[in-house]
Amino acid sequence: MDKLTTHFDLIILGASGFTGKYVVREALKFLNAPSSPLKIIALAGRNPQKLSQTLEWASHPHPPPPVPILAADTADPPSLRRLAAQTRLVLNCVGPFRLHGEPVVAACAESGCDYLDICGEPEFMERMEAAYHEAAAKSGSLVISACGFDSVPAELGLMFNSRQWSSPSVPNRVEAYLSLESEKRVVGNFGTFESAVLGVANAEKLMELRRSRPRRARPVIPGPSPPKGPIIEHQKKIGLWAVKLPSADAIVVRRTLATLTENPHGLPGVDESAEQVKKRETFWSTVNPAHFVVKIASKSIFSIFGFITVGMFIGLLGRFAVGRWLLLKFPSVFSLGGFRKKGPTEDEVRSASFKMWFVGNGFSNSAFVAQGNKKPDMEIITRVMGPEIGYLTTPIILIQCALILLRQRDNLPKGGVLTPGIVFGPTDLQERLQENGISFDVISKSALSA
Ligand SMILES: NC(=O)c1ccc[n+]([C@@H]2O[C@H](COP(=O)([O-])OP(=O)(O)OC[C@H]3O[C@@H](n4cnc5c(N)ncnc54)[C@H](OP(=O)(O)O)[C@@H]3O)[C@@H](O)[C@H]2O)c1
Repeated sequence: MDKLTTHFDLIILGASGFTGKYVVREALKFLNAPSSPLKIIALAGRNPQKLSQTLEWASHPHPPPPVPILAADTADPPSLRRLAAQTRLVLNCVGPFRLHGEPVVAACAESGCDYLDICGEPEFMERMEAAYHEAAAKSGSLVISACGFDSVPAELGLMFNSRQWSSPSVPNRVEAYLSLESEKRVVGNFGTFESAVLGVANAEKLMELRRSRPRRARPVIPGPSPPKGPIIEHQKKIGLWAVKLPSADAIVVRRTLATLTENPHGLPGVDESAEQVKKRETFWSTVNPAHFVVKIASKSIFSIFGFITVGMFIGLLGRFAVGRWLLLKFPSVFSLGGFRKKGPTEDEVRSASFKMWFVGNGFSNSAFVAQGNKKPDMEIITRVMGPEIGYLTTPIILIQCALILLRQRDNLPKGGVLTPGIVFGPTDLQERLQENGISFDVISKSALSA
């Protein structure tokens, strides 16, 4: 496909969805703004009337700008091929991705246009990598899933923590504690709940896929593997109770670290300057791999019991068709009010925020590891903080990834199905997020008592 025939800078597919409409609102902030690469965009989906209403909602209180509305249905591959032929980039907000995502990835990988999505479903991401990496690398299509709250704060947050360990100190493990805060209720839309429920149903398929694929390289991490620890943890340093969160974050981070282990200087850009090569190599030389887990955390232990109860409902009922029917019929009941068919109100979205604490443990001197002094003796705590996760932070991240892609394409890999961390790690994504309300801070560096 001749890329010069493309027309749009980007097309937002699934713009009429709950998340899609917030993505449109974020994109409009940069449309034709001074020095923005976003000059002409389109919205796409299966219902033109809903898409027009989205545009009006997202432009309010201003009149809607002249943004074309295109017909596309994930059940109609030719409509997706037409889309991919008209644009440099597709932003896919149609989920659950395991039901709708593959034809969109296929169309982009075939045509050579770039693709970003807000998927948080590991099975979909790994299946796309297995099926389309080669085609995308060949056609020059960058296909990057998880460019939302899942999993960019985890990817950049881990890198930010690991880069604070200046030689001779080295990290061994980083545990991320996610705390969701609000003066009102913290609520998610049904779309995310449905994706999580279907994720449980597909867990076995993911295991099968992994068994059928060659093993990825494992990073060399100084020191022993972290101990298992209790199911419910009281993390005194940050004053939070926590339990492991089975999100996609740690899996995406592991894939980034595998690619980094296979390519210690990162992935070369398609047309990089010598200066850029040096910048990229210097960046990756400062990233220290570490064991990584994500936990959901709260000041109240009762909230942790609530998270465990919801996890058990989804984990147990999600395995059976009848159970899935029940979960999807009564999302509010089985999520204890955490998800709603109609999603959160605008007020609830505005009131919510997140803090993600990264507690890194490691060695003040890497030589201690070889000497057999195997207990971490140093701790670095960092924090990523921002607005509501699903409908404010996710659109900010997705749009900033898109702007980097449009502005700095020469510095990014030619193509392939890749993770956000390996592609955007060495770019200015962290600075851009900071400029848009998502902060990265070092909280403390301290010695641990033996
Ligand atoms: N990464 C993150 O942190 C994050 C954050 C938020 C959301 N998400 C994910 O984003 C996805 C969407 O969530 P949501 O709450 O926005 O869901 P939603 O409100 O149900 O929106 C789904 C969108 O997909 C469209 N769609 C459905 N079937 C289609 C088809 N056959 N062809 C074309 N378009 C189709 C819908 O169009 P109609 O309007 O025509 O129905 C709608 O625009 C979920 O997978 C969710 O997990 C991820």
